[in-house]
Amino acid sequence: MKIDFHCKFSFYLLTYYCQPRLTIAILAQTIGIEKSMIAVNFHPQTLIELEHVSFAYPSGGGDTDVVTDINLSIQRGEWVTIVGSNGSGKSTLAKLIAKLFTATRGAVSYHMQERPPIQLIFQNPDAQIIGETVYEDLCFGMENYGISREIMRERALEALSKVGLAAHADAPVSQLSGGQKQLLCIAACLVLQPAVVLFDEATSMLDPLARTKIAAVAQQLHREGKTVIWITQWLDELAYADRVVALHNGGIVFDGSTKEFFYGSISDSDWAERTDRSYAGGLDIAAAETSSPNDSTEFHHLPRDGWSSCCERLGFVPPYSVQTARALLQQGFQLDPLPVSTTQLGQAVRAL
Ligand SMILES: Nc1ncnc2c1ncn2[C@@H]1O[C@H](COP(=O)(O)OP(=O)(O)OP(=O)(O)O)[C@@H](O)[C@H]1O
Ligand SMILES: [Mg+2]
Repeated sequence: MKIDFHCKFSFYLLTYYCQPRLTIAILAQTIGIEKSMIAVNFHPQTLIELEHVSFAYPSGGGDTDVVTDINLSIQRGEWVTIVGSNGSGKSTLAKLIAKLFTATRGAVSYHMQERPPIQLIFQNPDAQIIGETVYEDLCFGMENYGISREIMRERALEALSKVGLAAHADAPVSQLSGGQKQLLCIAACLVLQPAVVLFDEATSMLDPLARTKIAAVAQQLHREGKTVIWITQWLDELAYADRVVALHNGGIVFDGSTKEFFYGSISDSDWAERTDRSYAGGLDIAAAETSSPNDSTEFHHLPRDGWSSCCERLGFVPPYSVQTARALLQQGFQLDPLPVSTTQLGQAVRAL
């Protein structure tokens, strides 16, 4: 048994030296990880690209851009969260990304084989459900894409079990709760097997339990290799994100990591070394407080506790976990890595 293990280990070591990618692919196959997930790590592939995209609503007179000069690329397997205050242009951008709207200027391009490439899930599930029963609703979408009857049932049952609605396949839609309706919308999107699922504040009408359930389903889809674009105003939901894109007045004002969004551009290791209280969020506090009138009209909220990360400057209050972590940092405690969720905060505090 031991010899066998050593042989295998030496084999992996040797082949890793010669062919690192191949070795990891073999290893991953041995432990049952899907190939597509490996491809994500080794070959970042741009699925969606927006170049200098602007948009004005014809019904708004057509001369005022509500989305301005957006440059954005989404990679396969990413989870990108889009945040911004009411009216900042998130939903308009979502529709541009999904090509439901055509850009007034600039271009949106897709680089993927899947059809449909992208499916949207909106705030209000009732506006997206057409069928009388759960199963019927799933069939509508598939019929539109010419999927055969035999495949339909199989896909419908698979999607329903993924979202936890398998027992409700024949239930009338009217008997579902708000959260269950939103889960049905996710299933209706999954049966079409898109590469990208875009949630536009899909949890905002739900209670905390249903919100958690929808987020858990989305996280599972992401683990299975789906690309997720998640629009939200709930900053605790940023903990799911690899990347945060913040909108303000129709333009991107931040595109970076969640940690950077909450703590500024300083890295974890820098924070662990630096406990100088006059420095917060990568910005000099004195400079932030005496920022030019232009800055204060652009980002009207000044830092409360000396922090001036993008989160504050957009007028958002960071979640409890981030506020607590910042207070600890300001007391001189070293938190590494910087937490963005309560679970991570617990881990960081335990490690003190
Ligand atoms: N059909 C429309 N015609 C004209 N203007 C519109 C239309 N829909 C939205 N707008 C305007 O476009 C701007 C961006 O709206 P959008 O719905 O994209 O913002 P949002 O960030 O999604 O807001 P919310 O957080 O409230 O959902 C707003 O000023 C809004 O008034
Ligand atoms: Mg919106």
